Amino acid sequence: MNMIPNLGINFLGIELKNPVLTASGTFGYGYEAEDLIPLKKLGGIITKTITLHPRFGNPQPRIVEVESGLLNTIGLQNIGVMSFIDEPLDRLSKIGVPIIVSIAGNTEKEYREIAKILNMQNNSIISAVELNLSCPNLRKKPICHNLSLMQNIIKGVKKILKIPIIAKLSPLVADIPRLALAAQNVGANAVTLTNTYPAVAINVKNFTPKLSTINGGMSGSCIKPMSIYHVYNAYQRIKIPIVGCGGIMTGEDAIEFMLAGASVVSVGSASLVSPKNLIKIINEIEFILKCKSIKSIKEVIGIVNSKILK
Ligand SMILES: Cc1cc2nc3c(=O)[nH]c(=O)nc-3n(C[C@H](O)[C@H](O)[C@H](O)COP(=O)(O)O)c2cc1C
Repeated sequence: MNMIPNLGINFLGIELKNPVLTASGTFGYGYEAEDLIPLKKLGGIITKTITLHPRFGNPQPRIVEVESGLLNTIGLQNIGVMSFIDEPLDRLSKIGVPIIVSIAGNTEKEYREIAKILNMQNNSIISAVELNLSCPNLRKKPICHNLSLMQNIIKGVKKILKIPIIAKLSPLVADIPRLALAAQNVGANAVTLTNTYPAVAINVKNFTPKLSTINGGMSGSCIKPMSIYHVYNAYQRIKIPIVGCGGIMTGEDAIEFMLAGASVVSVGSASLVSPKNLIKIINEIEFILKCKSIKSIKEVIGIVNSKILK
């Protein structure tokens, strides 16, 4: 019980103190919570998705609380890549944890343009890039619904960047393992499974939709089993690591994702509830490993396939 488990993990050649990353879009650009929690304790930060040009996002209301989760239609509000490299990136570089920059574009060319701009920065600041291929806001459908477009984007960005590329996929596809495999086949170094689930909420008091765009993306604890389903099934088929995402509120949830095959996790809604939840999750992971006398977090990855922990 006195043993201190090793939470450190090498993810895509990046040394993480622990497997807990912030999910894109739920933790701002990543430095804003510096007065609230010790950011240094995080495994890493995935920034809010940035686009080539600034975006105001969708009209209000664009976030509502529903049973066991959140429904949002933020619409990728962001300051655009040029302003991002001016200020947020500089501030992020001082935190001392690996920074993963999330990017999205309307077209293949836009993804490449952003990649070129990021490539001109000091390479040591950005550890990896997460391609948001699953946002329903930019086009009518998430990009990953178009397999060849998705593959061309990954190939195009891959040619420009020397750092690892993570493809963030939508859960709204018939066969996520096939999609993850398609991403792997064109050079994605990892996949994030998954983004939000499409959903609608209606106010029965006045018969109006709760979100300005009617349709939104569902996140939070209610999506956890569905996201674990995708992680578990993709893990059987692909060789590249998985970032597990969707409904992680506790350390136990994070470990569940890792047992299903995730190498690391990204936490969204829980950090919107309180950024302190990120630190709580890290502490809970350590506590669970201690109780089970597991020396290293690496030992739990995908273990549900071979043995059941007591
Ligand atoms: C308010 C809000 C904004 C989000 N913005 C982004 C974003 O900019 N880029 C992205 O890839 N995902 C975005 N997401 C999705 C999250 O990164 C995450 O994939 C999803 O919320 C599921 O995880 P969770 O249940 O832990 O929140 C957003 C989610 C929420 C709730």
